[in-house]
Amino acid sequence: MDKLRIKSKTEIEKMKRSGEAAATVLKRIGEAIAPGVSTAELERISRNTIAERNAISSFLGYQPPDHEPYPATICTSINDVVIHGIPNENHVLKDGDIIGIDTAVSIDGYHGDNAYTFPVGNISPSAERLLKVTRSSLYDAIDEAKPGNRIGDISAKLQDGAESNGFSVLQSFSGHGIGRSLHEAPEIPCLGVPGRGLRLRPGMVLAIETMVNIGLPDVQSLPDGWTITTVDGSLSALFEHTVAVLSDGPEILTRSSLWET
Ligand code: MF3
Ligand code: CO
Repeated sequence: MDKLRIKSKTEIEKMKRSGEAAATVLKRIGEAIAPGVSTAELERISRNTIAERNAISSFLGYQPPDHEPYPATICTSINDVVIHGIPNENHVLKDGDIIGIDTAVSIDGYHGDNAYTFPVGNISPSAERLLKVTRSSLYDAIDEAKPGNRIGDISAKLQDGAESNGFSVLQSFSGHGIGRSLHEAPEIPCLGVPGRGLRLRPGMVLAIETMVNIGLPDVQSLPDGWTITTVDGSLSALFEHTVAVLSDGPEILTRSSLWET
C-alpha cells in the first residue's frame, strides 16, 4: 500500500473521470446480468467499456507480492464467493444467484474503484435483505466521510449496519485510500470504533468498501490463489464507492443511475 496523499481540487476533478468510467462499467454489466449469462461475457462488456473511455484497467495484471497477476478487468463473485472471483466462460449465472462485480480503472494516472452486488432474476428474501442492508450500511458509512471525523467512524457504521441485522463483516480485507495508486493509506476496515483512527482531512480520497456475510465472518482462499469464499458456504455481498472528503462533506466520485434504484 502506498502512502496517503492529499489531493488538490484539480486532482479530484480528474478523479471524477475515472470514477465515472468505473461506474459506467458496473452499470453496463448490471444491464446485462441475467440467468444464462457467463461471467466471461461480463468481462467482455467491461473491456469494451474501458476501451471506449480510453481508460486503463487497474485490475488486469495487478500483482501483489508473492501472487499471480490478476487475469481480468473485473472480479465476479457469485453467492458464497466473497471477493476476487475470476471471470470464466463456464461460470454461468442462474436464477436466484447474487453476483458481486468489482472494478477499478485509471484515466490520466488517477484510479476510480467501485463494486456492486446484483440479484440474478428472483432471489430469496434473505438474499434480498443482505443486499439491502449491505448497500445501506455503505451509504451510512459514506455520510461519516467528512473533515474532523475519523476512520473509525466510517468503519463502525459498516460494522453496525451488518451486525445489527445478524450478519457479519469481513475482518481480513479492507477499503483503502486511492489516487495515483489503487491502494494508498489509510486502510479502512469494515469494523471499528467511533472516534478512533486517523482524522479525516479535506482532499483525502477513500475507496470505502464493505463485505458482508450472512453467516460467519470466516473466509478461505481457493487453489486459484485469488477467489475468496465463506467457510460456512453462506452468501456474501460487497459494495464500494470512491469518495472524496471535501470541506463541506463527502462527494461520491463513482455515482451513477445504477445506485438510484
Ligand atoms: N477492489 C479490490 C481492492 O480494492 C481489488 C482487488 S484487485 C484485483 O483491493 F485485481 F485483484 F482484483
Ligand atoms: Co477497492
